[in-house]
Formats: sequence, C-alpha cells, structure tokens
Amino acid sequence: MSLVHLADVHKEYRLGATSVHAVRGVSLEIREGELVSIVGPSGCGKTTILNMIGCIDRPTRGTVRFDGQDVGHLSDSQAAQMRLRSIGFVFQSFNLVPVLSVRENIALPMVLAGASKRERRETTDHLMDAVGLTEFAAHKPGELSGGQRQRVAIARALVNSPRLVIADEPTANLDSETGGDVLDVMRRLNRDEGVTFIFSTHDEKILRYAGRIVKLRDGVVEGVDGEQPECT
Ligand SMILES: Nc1ncnc2c1ncn2[C@@H]1O[C@H](COP(=O)(O)OP(=O)(O)O)[C@@H](O)[C@H]1O
Ligand SMILES: [Mg+2]
Repeated sequence: MSLVHLADVHKEYRLGATSVHAVRGVSLEIREGELVSIVGPSGCGKTTILNMIGCIDRPTRGTVRFDGQDVGHLSDSQAAQMRLRSIGFVFQSFNLVPVLSVRENIALPMVLAGASKRERRETTDHLMDAVGLTEFAAHKPGELSGGQRQRVAIARALVNSPRLVIADEPTANLDSETGGDVLDVMRRLNRDEGVTFIFSTHDEKILRYAGRIVKLRDGVVEGVDGEQPECT
C-alpha cells in the first residue's frame, strides 16, 4: 500500500477578493521506504504540497491520503496527533531551540510524546551517532555550523520513529557542499534504517540524491524521473 497518495489535489489560497491557485490537480503516490524529491522554482507549490501531506494544511479539492487515511478532513487536534506521532519535519531555517543542547533539541518531540527518560537517552544516543553528532551532544545550536544544525533537525525529526520525514528545502540555507552532506545523511538513513523521506528543493544540482524526482511547475507535475518501486 502507498504511504502517501494524492489524487487530483488542488489548493487555492483566498486573499480578500483575489485567489491564488497554488496547486492545480496534482496526483502522486509515495511508497514506504522511498526517497522522493519535489523539485521546481520558487513559487511552484512545493511547500503547499508538503504542508498538505504533513497535515499542516488541507486541500481545497481532491484527496490526500496518509497511510490509507483521508487526512484532508481531520480535526485540528487529530492533525496535531498525526504530526506528532507519524511525521517528522525538517525546515529550511532549522528551527532549533537556542537554549537547549543538541541532545535536548533532538529529544524534545519525545518529551511531548511522553517518552521515559531512559527511552529518550537511548534514542538520542542512537540518532546522534547516526547523524555524526555524538561529540556535540552538550553543545547549543549557536555553537554549530549550518550543516551540523540541519543534522540536529534531521535527528529530531526521527525521534518518534515517524512513518515519513518531510524536509522542505533542507539545503536552501547551506552551501552546496554542506547541502550535499546533509542529503547524504538523509540518503544513508533511508538506505540503512528504511526511513521514508520526501524533500523539496529548487536546486537541480542535488537531484542525484533522490530515488525519484517529481518536477513541479506552476502547481502541476511536469514530469517524474525514476521508477516508483513495486508494491511488495
Ligand atoms: N498562505 C498563503 N496565502 C496566499 N498565497 C500563498 C500562501 N502560501 C503560498 N502562496 C502562494 O502559492 C504559490 C505557491 O507557493 P509555495 O507552495 O510556497 O511555493 P514554493 O514552496 O514552491 O516556493 C505562490 O504563488 C505563493 O505566493
Ligand atoms: Mg517553499
């Protein structure tokens, strides 16, 4: 079964008398274990699509299914539970808490989910190792480079063992080499731990990191590169 399924999804933003038709009939399927990239220029609708998949926003028309469930009609609290339990987010601007250490930042969603102290320690140990930040456990975000901060954000996105990690332009604030390193971390976690990733970018140079590439332009899918894996 597909993990994410979009069927003829539209999103219209109303701004007073005018409206912006940001997404215009997108259909898309993502299977568990995939690493998919949504690529296109600024304003083409990448964030809008990721927000609908991530239960942050709802489609105006069409259906968005997550794990078989129509998430376009969840209540606000159901959507919040879905985000906390099933989806990890990585943002362009990292969004770390400056006064917390690397370990505490990574553990934060586990605190919200009510995990025990021992579970938190085991999971953060494992994830800091997986993203190469063990020696920075006690550092604050301000003491880290951009690439290291984004690796903290990736680890934080994974702590509650989400079904899907959504990364919206995770490399936009990084130089291309550091951005490549961050995508390498995602690719390794995808390959070794089976984490399903969907990330967006406007940078065509980093396309080689994705298993499948969805090209978006003006709110429609212009083309898809790469095979969708067979259903197993
Ligand atoms: N909250 C909003 N209200 C009104 N228009 C919006 C809003 N969010 C995005 N848009 C518009 O929708 C279009 C797609 O935006 P977005 O999904 O952010 O694109 P991208 O992430 O690819 O840069 C753009 O024209 C943008 O201006
Ligand atoms: Mg965007």
